[in-house]
Amino acid sequence: MAPDFYTIDDLDLEGKTVLVRVDINSPVDPITGLLLDDTRIRLHAETISELAEKGAKTVLIAHQSRPGKKDFTTLQQHAETLSNLLERPVSYVDDIFGSNARETISKLKGGEILLLENVRFYSEEILQREPLEQAETHMVRLLSPLADYFINDAFAAAHRSQPSMVGFAMKMPSAAGRVMERELKALYSAVSNVERPCVYVLGGVKVDDSVMVMENALEAGSADYILTTGLVANIFLWGGGVNIRKHNRKFIEDREYCEYVKTAKKLCKKFKDKILVPSDLAVCKDDKRLEYPVGKLPNLPIFDLGTETTTEYARVIRNARTIFANGPAGVFEKEGFNQGTEDILNAISSSPGFSIIGGGHLAAAANQMGLRGISHISSGGGASINLIAGARLPAVEVLREQR
Ligand code: 3PG
Repeated sequence: MAPDFYTIDDLDLEGKTVLVRVDINSPVDPITGLLLDDTRIRLHAETISELAEKGAKTVLIAHQSRPGKKDFTTLQQHAETLSNLLERPVSYVDDIFGSNARETISKLKGGEILLLENVRFYSEEILQREPLEQAETHMVRLLSPLADYFINDAFAAAHRSQPSMVGFAMKMPSAAGRVMERELKALYSAVSNVERPCVYVLGGVKVDDSVMVMENALEAGSADYILTTGLVANIFLWGGGVNIRKHNRKFIEDREYCEYVKTAKKLCKKFKDKILVPSDLAVCKDDKRLEYPVGKLPNLPIFDLGTETTTEYARVIRNARTIFANGPAGVFEKEGFNQGTEDILNAISSSPGFSIIGGGHLAAAANQMGLRGISHISSGGGASINLIAGARLPAVEVLREQR
């Protein structure tokens, strides 16, 4: 069946200027500032190389992290990595839509590739608003006249109604890139045929996405069990009345996630047999891993699930017919704290059930482990899990409206 949005196959690209939104948001070492994984850059390389081969002047727009976070950096390294992967030059300007960026775009020749600066350095990009409003932002008004087409390949950010995700598509002929096209086909086909029991494994630090998805899936009756891991687990433990200790409460307060503790409390009460929380956890003391039952936690940072918890979670995962997982189970990039994430991924990979995992960090961990038994590794975390739980993705809706 033909997709209900335009794809690269519908565009005549020779000599045309194309604005391409990619999602190369990647794990960055907080100490050295170096990129830790190039999975997402590798994925988009396919779309970018196809555009260059077809003679397009390719202008890449992308984000890295969010303001205020340690990995909120420029995209210079991303350009170098992309250039190495493509084995062709990728130029970079430390500008988004100022005169330097606009002049560089206007001088591009067919087959050349330019990466603009981290689009979230621009304050309007952070605001989530309706597509019509985003079409009138400074960036969209200044960049859209310079290009012939907009291609959205950033499936991983498709749940964000931000200017670079929805604004250009309101102003210009637009299509989906190869990553977007492949993800949408795989995920829509997966959700049209969900076998029960269906288990969601929700972790990582993006608690806002996870709690919303959990609420949708539980209210719609589409999840049989939700296994909480990572920061999501800490919030549900706190919401369920467990003393996770001052250090860990402060971590949640500092991220302004306290409202989710209230939602967690409400959800735990209403769906108590469906939401599973850890029975033990690993904390970090002098860089060492120490495991404690949740009732006896010391005032130290929680960095991973405990062994008893992963054993129980693995049992539930093995009995599932469908598994959706998003976000790592702990600080897996730190030595000694990758056990929970790896045990969960191994259980998913060896489960006979159909499985989709998502999120930059979890996908990177699965790729590094070389796991073969996962049905689909999505480049999107929040985007894929929102789609699976039945939410509409704003960036996909605006592409559909063009057809
Ligand atoms: C992701 O990593 O999930 C995407 O890049 C979206 O990032 P965001 O959650 O900061 O919008």
